[in-house]
Amino acid sequence: MNDLSSIIEMARLAFEKALTPAELENSKALFLGKSGRITELMKGLAALPVEEKKTRGAAINVAKQGIEVALNARRQALADQELQAQLQAEALDVTLPGRQRGSGGLHPVSLTLERIESIFGSMGFEVAQGPEIESDWFNFTALNTPEDHPARSMHDTFYVEGGSAHAPNLLRTHTSPMQIRHAVQHVKKHRAAVDPAQANQGLFSGAMPEIRVIAPGRTYRVDSDATHSPMFHQCEGLWVGENISFKDLKFVFTDFCRTFFENPDLVLRFRPSFFPFTEPSAEIDIQFPSGTLAGRWLEVAGSGQVHPNVIRNMGLDPERYIGFAFGMGFDRLTMLRYGVNDLRLFFDGDLRFLSQFR
Ligand code: PHE
Repeated sequence: MNDLSSIIEMARLAFEKALTPAELENSKALFLGKSGRITELMKGLAALPVEEKKTRGAAINVAKQGIEVALNARRQALADQELQAQLQAEALDVTLPGRQRGSGGLHPVSLTLERIESIFGSMGFEVAQGPEIESDWFNFTALNTPEDHPARSMHDTFYVEGGSAHAPNLLRTHTSPMQIRHAVQHVKKHRAAVDPAQANQGLFSGAMPEIRVIAPGRTYRVDSDATHSPMFHQCEGLWVGENISFKDLKFVFTDFCRTFFENPDLVLRFRPSFFPFTEPSAEIDIQFPSGTLAGRWLEVAGSGQVHPNVIRNMGLDPERYIGFAFGMGFDRLTMLRYGVNDLRLFFDGDLRFLSQFR
């Protein structure tokens, strides 16, 4: 092997060893740079006789071209390698399972609410909503519970700052204020249609469509243990017309409970009680005919025939209008329906519990 072909071979080996473009450029300088091997050989030509200069010069050029070919080949190889590495790093494995989105679901108490609304909806009840920060008037006074009335101490009320008798000053302790709020609106609307001149004067004793409404929502009392939470849910029911009696309350509520629990043999008991805004009043207890709860009376609602004073505060003449109301705690209904024994589970937000209701 002559000196030139061995230089080409050395260059090829050196390029082969370069693992990055920067290393390759360094190796290139050793052969083709200003003081590289080829440049040195060119300088040496000057000392040769003319004839030899020609052939030797041509041979060196051929060697130089050979080195450049090797250099370009290596450059291309390094570029290919880099591209491959990048492609691999960014590769998608199309056989991987897709990313799943967790599927959500309604809270068990919301499921109960939907059920309540649909059952009462099928009996012609509309759904109303009202404020959770309530005034003393709607929460107590208008419901026949004047100041200093002992019944006020039945509720451990959260009071908020400020407020006067009509201004908001407490967290509603029950949904019963909605009886007044809804009825007053209802009466105003229909009364304006019947006798606009007298729309706001005295008690209304004309004809109007019945009031048939449920009002679900959050309620608050100073109370907290496994079966009481400071925030809980109630659903008020109100049916006022010209001939709505306790018998209708019994029928409607019995029908509701049996449908809600999908149990036509469920037994109900209306136990005499006291509420300032109903007379007579009753606690409603239910009993399952079989299962783990069989034989126990479980209280689910307060109820009664709307007190004449409350009918008056609705703007109606109690000589013509009469009706019933009930208020049930539907966290309790949810616990019974799903067999949950600690109310607090509903409000912890623990997905291990909640996802069971999806
Ligand atoms: N508001 C009563 C309570 O929270 C329940 C009730 C509602 C009683 C309507 C009678 C009529 O205890």
